[in-house]
Amino acid sequence: MRKKLGIIGAGNVGATLALFAVNSGLCDVVMFDIVEGMPQGKALDILQNTVVLGIKANIIGTNNLEDLSGSDIIVITAGLARKPGMRRKDLLMANADIVGGIVKKLSSQCPDAIYIVVTNPMDVMAYLTLAISGVGRQRVLGMGGILDLSRFKTFISMELGVAPKDIETLVLGGHGLYMVPLVRFTTVKGIPLSKWLSKEKIEALVQRTREGGAEIVSLLKTGSAYYAPAQSTFEMVKAIILDEKRILPCSVYLDGEYGAKDVFNGVPVILGKQGLEKIIELELTDEEKQAFANSTEEVSNMIKILKEEGKI
Ligand SMILES: NC(=O)c1ccc[n+]([C@@H]2O[C@H](COP(=O)([O-])OP(=O)(O)OC[C@H]3O[C@@H](n4cnc5c(N)ncnc54)[C@H](O)[C@@H]3O)[C@@H](O)[C@H]2O)c1
Repeated sequence: MRKKLGIIGAGNVGATLALFAVNSGLCDVVMFDIVEGMPQGKALDILQNTVVLGIKANIIGTNNLEDLSGSDIIVITAGLARKPGMRRKDLLMANADIVGGIVKKLSSQCPDAIYIVVTNPMDVMAYLTLAISGVGRQRVLGMGGILDLSRFKTFISMELGVAPKDIETLVLGGHGLYMVPLVRFTTVKGIPLSKWLSKEKIEALVQRTREGGAEIVSLLKTGSAYYAPAQSTFEMVKAIILDEKRILPCSVYLDGEYGAKDVFNGVPVILGKQGLEKIIELELTDEEKQAFANSTEEVSNMIKILKEEGKI
């Protein structure tokens, strides 16, 4: 039987993910949004695209959360997107209410689901999802690191004129400004990046990656990036459905790993049918440790605010 993918939020990221998922033929999709008619309209449009492709697909759009019952994977994209000049922190309260309310309702309907959280601030929303759902930490993952990697690889490949698939790299830490790029693990066809580019050039590419989301926001004028975020999320969905055991940077609950406790942050993990199957711990330099600790502190501070406001 095909897996059931529930998508919360049929906006830019949610609907694009639905398109990628349905076109892959790997799963059935149910897409939920509070806006009446919109998820139904997008689902019909996506269904018609599969007819052109000759793919057998099942997708429905709904305003009824009960239609998500029995989902194997639930991706949460509902919430407000960042607007120009708006900081991630500004989204905290509004999105905590949206995500918290949905997870509360879904946890009894979808007892076996693995949650993938996209809504920003993602690491904090993932913490909230874990706390409210009551499922084990294996089953709550945040998407951010794969997108950061895709951005870093894009800029390296543009700079060097080489195929992105020949680039290997790793990032840790929070998505965006608090990203901790592991430049010493970045190679082009196995050759360290430092042999290809100067320290200054690498730092400039890292900085552009950190601000990669903001660069797109300022170009779009309204809304934020969604094609690469949706593709990055689909990469996680695929790894779970196909039990691929991919090593991917995801935000997960840390219980002492990397020196962090009771917080979500981005680390390399093995993703398979159980969700988070293993956290891969790397030995970090003092500088990397400090950067990771700064990133963790930022997430912990926001979790603290949520607790003070009684959201958790
Ligand atoms: N983690 C990442 O790397 C990453 C990347 C891109 C976007 N995001 C975040 O993902 C979220 C979605 O981005 P987007 O571009 O799709 O935004 P969007 O505005 O296009 O879509 C959000 C959707 O959520 C819906 N929604 C709002 N409240 C809801 C509720 N209570 N129940 C169901 N649906 C509800 C809205 O109607 C809208 O359709 C934002 O928070 C954005 O910041 C995260």
